[in-house]
Amino acid sequence: MKKILIIGSTGQIGSELTMKLREVYGDSNVVAGYIPSAPPMGELAESGPCEEVDITNGQQIADVVTKHGIDTIYNLAALLSAVGERKPLLAWHIGIDGLLNVLEVAREHGCAVFTPSSIGSFGPNAPKDGTPQDTIQQPRTMYGITKVSGELLSNYYASKFGVDTRSVRFPGLISYVAPPGGGTTDYAVDIYYSAVRGEKFMCPIKGGTFMDMMYMPDALRAAIEIMEADESKLRHRNSFNIAAMSFDPEIIYQSIRKYIPSFEMEYQIDSLRQEIAESWPNKLDDTCARMEWGWKHRYDLDAMTRDMIDKLSLRLNKQ
Ligand code: SER
Repeated sequence: MKKILIIGSTGQIGSELTMKLREVYGDSNVVAGYIPSAPPMGELAESGPCEEVDITNGQQIADVVTKHGIDTIYNLAALLSAVGERKPLLAWHIGIDGLLNVLEVAREHGCAVFTPSSIGSFGPNAPKDGTPQDTIQQPRTMYGITKVSGELLSNYYASKFGVDTRSVRFPGLISYVAPPGGGTTDYAVDIYYSAVRGEKFMCPIKGGTFMDMMYMPDALRAAIEIMEADESKLRHRNSFNIAAMSFDPEIIYQSIRKYIPSFEMEYQIDSLRQEIAESWPNKLDDTCARMEWGWKHRYDLDAMTRDMIDKLSLRLNKQ
């Protein structure tokens, strides 16, 4: 059985991935690493071990890895794209200095490492439609720069030191659990909150701007399946394109209106996020992930919309 440390366990992906990993590998085998400003709460805090782990403190990572006999690290610490543009040095410090700490600990202690990359690792010079697995990656955001540098560093540690690093390039992730946290794709989460609350949605992204998106249950499964994949079949490591759906604000709006016909949306464009969105792909080609480790999404837009509206209605009515 794996012994897993999650760095960033209370963040957008971590808060759900930690619970999923505990379900799969056993509560006591999954350590939730957190920083004091974002401590674990409720089920996350109570269902298994928790340790303070600041990614910028290599010794602290090493101590927790030794204490719990960790063999796999899920490194989920990051600032999302729009926040990263406001705090670029911090985005680099967490994304790259932090990753180096993780990779060094992994090298010394023989751990496998998962570090997510993103659609943000591409830039305006990559082909927009059917963006290939291997293509130009010249991002203009600090978020994207840390992601593409992280991919290269992770591949370097694999080829130079034999560290088992693997990863996927996540699309925008949509969930009813984790609240949106400063990403460019987060409008596609906010829109469901407005719809379920019966409010008009002010959309910060222009109609016609397409981006890849994925429902969180598919994303969690991808993060687990890539780390379980047969290594001998992998031609790539860091990082695999994965895709599920691609839409623009009009298409998601119409999908929600099928279930909430009175829902209204107006545009109020946020120039920073619009500029970032326009520099990202419209739709990734994820053939390599499908061929090399059998990736397959389960949720399309309408299936996600139905589930989001059901689950969010329950959650918001309870509050
Ligand atoms: N969801 C991320 C963002 O918008 C992209 O990976 O920043």
